[in-house]
Amino acid sequence: MKRVIRCVRALEILDSRGNPTLAAEVELSGGVAATAKVPSGASTGRHEALELRDGDPGRYAGKGVRKAVRNVEEVIGPALAGTDPEDQAAVDGRMIELDGTPGKSRLGANAILGVSCAVARAAAMARGVPLWRHLAGDRGASLPVPMVNILSGGLHAGRQFEFQDFLAAPYGFDTYSESLCAACAIHRAAKELLDERGCVLTGVADEGGWGPRLPANETALEVLTAAIERAGFRPGEQVVIAIDAASSHFYVDGRYYLRSEERWVSRGEMIDLLAGWAERFPVFSIEDGLAEDDWEGWERLTRRLGNRLQLLGDDLFVTNPGRLERGIRSGVANAVLVKMNQIGTLTETFQVIDRASEAGYRAVISARSGETEDDFLADLAVASGAGQIKVGSVTRSSRLSKYNRLLEIEQRSDLPYFRLMVPRQPADPQAHGTRLTSGAKL
Ligand code: PGA
Ligand code: ZN
Repeated sequence: MKRVIRCVRALEILDSRGNPTLAAEVELSGGVAATAKVPSGASTGRHEALELRDGDPGRYAGKGVRKAVRNVEEVIGPALAGTDPEDQAAVDGRMIELDGTPGKSRLGANAILGVSCAVARAAAMARGVPLWRHLAGDRGASLPVPMVNILSGGLHAGRQFEFQDFLAAPYGFDTYSESLCAACAIHRAAKELLDERGCVLTGVADEGGWGPRLPANETALEVLTAAIERAGFRPGEQVVIAIDAASSHFYVDGRYYLRSEERWVSRGEMIDLLAGWAERFPVFSIEDGLAEDDWEGWERLTRRLGNRLQLLGDDLFVTNPGRLERGIRSGVANAVLVKMNQIGTLTETFQVIDRASEAGYRAVISARSGETEDDFLADLAVASGAGQIKVGSVTRSSRLSKYNRLLEIEQRSDLPYFRLMVPRQPADPQAHGTRLTSGAKL
């Protein structure tokens, strides 16, 4: 019996920062029902699709999502009733059409994404297959390398320092679970080192990593490299570092303001700073190294470092097929961060992932700093075969739901662990000129 969408409901719930967000529930004929919960960013890109908020200062400081809930129940639900949940492109296309704006500002990307993901989940349940298998289609599914947040600054940690995330990517292990175990050891070692250095810990940051006060941004790299060693691993060989500069958020009047270091940095100096770090530390990936609309600067950055670093566009590309296309055409960056709620449907998310892979760009599947216990992203990362996932640190349930779901998928399947190819690190004299090659297609 072919099932159809019977009804769609929504609910205002809370995210990991205590802000409202939306949960959508899709019920199919025959009684199958599934929900999906939408995340929310803090260091958002200017070109993201619109997250619809009520703007009523009397509730949640204006952040309520009752309008989005109403849009799901009164506009989207009736329009989708009777349609085929397995035809994701048609479902998403219908919602895009109903919205009718380029940035999903009428119905809200939060309303649309909730339904998009809940439909996929319901369809997988109806087929009796795991979500990742339903999503994968012809793609070569694999378990991704986790890019784990260890130290946080910027908007996620009270701006103690400006660069937003310093992450450990344990890529030199045979399995996902061994990599996760290594990340936990590094996370613990980082805390010990911060204590020994007398750094004031301002608590745990929005993504569960440590939010210390540091004398300079570079100190985060020193601490993280030392933590990798203290945990018993070889930096560069087993574990590499990823940085999310999120530089649009300290870009002021054409320059970067490093308030914690009391200095201003020009575009050229920023490129030099990043190049210098990549020489001296086992850095493999730099996200948003320059501001979101500095296309010319990004071209320079890519020419200078693109052959030995993963240069990842988050606020730059905002998971938008048009912006990614511009990047590919102009030789900007070599990887795209994928956040579903930046664009608002699963279909467009896969469009970005597939186009990236076709153009030789890598994709990193990412959570938002405001998350829920929903583990959809784990299945998306596996299904896409993208090979890397970035969902925060190894504390807080909103983060662990994803890591734990990956453990479950690893346990219950015989999927391969993605082999991430990392150029030799600076200690090796051959490092320069080594090309960053895409991971083996699995
Ligand atoms: P956001 O942060 O969810 O606050 O945008 C995550 C990131 O910048 O990668
Ligand atoms: Zn980012």
